[in-house]
Amino acid sequence: MFSYDVIILGAGAAGLFCAAQAGQRGLKVLLIDHSSAVAEKIRISGGGRANFTNRDLDPSAPQKHFLSSNSHFCRSALARFTPGDFIALMHKHGISFHEKHKGQLFCDGSAQELIDMLLAECQTASAHGGLVERWQPCKANRVDHDASACLYSVETDRGLAKAPALVLATGGLSIPKIGATDFGWRLARQFGLRVIEPRPGLVPLTFDGNGWAPYAGMAGIALPVAISTSEAPGEKKAKKSRITFHEDLLFTHRGLSGPAVLQISSYWQAGAPISIDLAPGVDLATELLAAKARGSRKLIANELTAWLPSRLADTWVSLNSAWQRPINEASDKALAQLAEQLSDWQLVPTGTEGYRKAEVTVGGVDTRDLSSQTMEAKNQPGLYCIGEVVDVTGWLGGYNFQWAWASAHACAQAI
Ligand code: FDA
Repeated sequence: MFSYDVIILGAGAAGLFCAAQAGQRGLKVLLIDHSSAVAEKIRISGGGRANFTNRDLDPSAPQKHFLSSNSHFCRSALARFTPGDFIALMHKHGISFHEKHKGQLFCDGSAQELIDMLLAECQTASAHGGLVERWQPCKANRVDHDASACLYSVETDRGLAKAPALVLATGGLSIPKIGATDFGWRLARQFGLRVIEPRPGLVPLTFDGNGWAPYAGMAGIALPVAISTSEAPGEKKAKKSRITFHEDLLFTHRGLSGPAVLQISSYWQAGAPISIDLAPGVDLATELLAAKARGSRKLIANELTAWLPSRLADTWVSLNSAWQRPINEASDKALAQLAEQLSDWQLVPTGTEGYRKAEVTVGGVDTRDLSSQTMEAKNQPGLYCIGEVVDVTGWLGGYNFQWAWASAHACAQAI
């Protein structure tokens, strides 16, 4: 039997950072992960360069970039461990990085540098009288809690480990082939915590084969759009919470992807439509009618290339014979209809590409059952939940890693 101050299940972003921070507080930490590779999700993140945080995160309103059933839950942890704190750590380890887009920070080299930094931080625990021991690969088969002794026991392939504190850092369900499991949520439920039904987030959207057929030829086209959630028929409430992203859209063979779609997918509810403005910032109706008034003899598709990729313009006008003509021969009504469709393209996805392609899981351990200060379960002393296992999901752009660091930090200070 092995004794520790804390056992952390999951050696991903949150688990590694929590282990390092707790170890540096002088605690004896055991980190258990069933995968043989260390922090595989960090390694593949950001195209191999890890978008490790986001400078635009507003410490006074951090919840703006996060989804959760309780939008204020993430506030305390994110305000106490900021992107600036993580950037300072990167500087300390001499890891260079750059800003790409909307505050997103990426390693100049590879994500492996970030993993090495977290492992090095774990090693420095011994200089502070602590210890981080890592059992990996190691399967945790069963967890029990002895309330009278205030001890958690974890039965593993390498023996029985005990500690007064247990941290669930097993992440979400995305990319099952690299070791994602629902173990954290099963344990949370075992100890009486509620779990908000998980679903894939930051994921491409798919459409019914026949309905999508007219657009399938546009696969590969990318363009900047404004994309919004839309109300399902008869639904009024959603209008208030309508959210819009200005990002790039990518057409695929099965549907839509690209940053715009990944962002909106986390907010999309099954059965609801989404709305896409394919020419944001352009008053297409006015522009097309003005071209007609000038007597332009250009085909409508050619006029549209001023604002849209030509393959998209060609495909779009092929949908209606009234648009397959020189603009001076088109009716005002046909032009208005074309402009309306392009600037408010309403479509109902039939699904998503699922966890196989999702970057995150929306939902997770219900924040009503956790302390926002410490991440400890309110009714289960010594049990903590951090990172993606919790019902806090960030936008695309480094926000999910920042939540992993911040929740891990809050927990490590409290154990
Ligand atoms: P994480 O998934 O990192 O770690 C969980 C660990 O638990 C894993 O090591 C797993 O093996 C282990 N585990 C699971 N079940 C277990 C069990 N039964 N027993 C033992 N161990 C178990 N975010 C971001 O901010 N910037 C980015 O650039 C990207 N890019 C990106 C790309 C791709 C392809 C994906 C899939 C995801 C991203 N993300 C991202 C999201 C980000 O990777 C994610 O939010 C964090 O890794 C979450 O950190 P956690 O530590 O909570 O889970």
